Amino acid sequence: MSHKKIVFSGVQPNGNLHLGNYLGALKNFVSLQKNIDCIYCVVDLHAITVFQNPNELKNNILETTASFLATGLDPSKSIIFNQSSVSEHSELAWILNCVSRIGWLNRMTQFKDKAGSDKEKASVGLYIYPNLMAADILLYKATHVPVGADQKQHLELSRDIAQKFNKDFNCENFFPLPEPLIPKNISRVMSLRDGTKKMSKSETSDYSRINLKDNADEIIKKIKKAKSDSKAIPDNIKSLEERPEALNLLNIYSEITKIELEKVIKEMSGKDYSFVKKKLADVLVDEICPVGKEIDKLMGDKTHLLQILKKGTEKARIIAEENLKNIREKVGLI
Ligand code: TRP
Repeated sequence: MSHKKIVFSGVQPNGNLHLGNYLGALKNFVSLQKNIDCIYCVVDLHAITVFQNPNELKNNILETTASFLATGLDPSKSIIFNQSSVSEHSELAWILNCVSRIGWLNRMTQFKDKAGSDKEKASVGLYIYPNLMAADILLYKATHVPVGADQKQHLELSRDIAQKFNKDFNCENFFPLPEPLIPKNISRVMSLRDGTKKMSKSETSDYSRINLKDNADEIIKKIKKAKSDSKAIPDNIKSLEERPEALNLLNIYSEITKIELEKVIKEMSGKDYSFVKKKLADVLVDEICPVGKEIDKLMGDKTHLLQILKKGTEKARIIAEENLKNIREKVGLI
């Protein structure tokens, strides 16, 4: 029996979304909703694995929803909702906590990065976070999961959990083994200050990233100040690969304009950075500013956003209830 194609992905509501989220995830979400049943979730329960100010969290849940809509997700095509409003996520997470192995979690590199040097002080939630992520995906029997490259290991864990569940409860093929959909070229948008580090909301300098809500002046200034080197743009990818900052700028340009990187290099080779930066700032302003303005507009009507989440929750819950009922049966819960 083959499973129906279902896409699931989640985004944490922990503040400003940036160009990395936009190119690495959101744009991909939008193109998938055309042909496949998609479920997109604001994963608020994941966000609280590190402390969140409650008022800020509320606002961020709505702002992430607004960002979904502003980039083109359509609530009449995709299911859009927030995780904590469908309590089946937590219940399945508990069941999966009992399937997943401590040894598996101990290998998760993101936990090691996020917990830092004092692991004893990290929340238990942060440690078992990948099990909750598996629950999100398996609750809907999702087959495909669009994520950034940094989530690949978590997805492999979800597959291991699905496989072990199917085996332990003697129900081969009950859970599909979810496959990652990782964008090829732009799995990583790098920091504008350091081409070897991912663009991230946790980097201290705001000059390291383009936020979806940045205005034209901010975008132009940030691109102008982006780290570069003094050489001209080379004529081949190989020499570009030794220059991560140059590669990052051209990669972003290529992704926004949908012109292949090879072609972009041909167009730009021999030119200096001021030329490249001017062009890049222009296309970024054209693409990102309308998104930022739309987010602001949507945030002006919170009742509307809450309504969208409520409708999405109702649709998600129908699937979640039915699937959890079957899962509980497999496990022997009555
Ligand atoms: N862990 C993901 C991230 O930080 C977010 C996430 C939670 C997710 N649940 C998910 C992504 C399920 C894909 C599928 O980016």
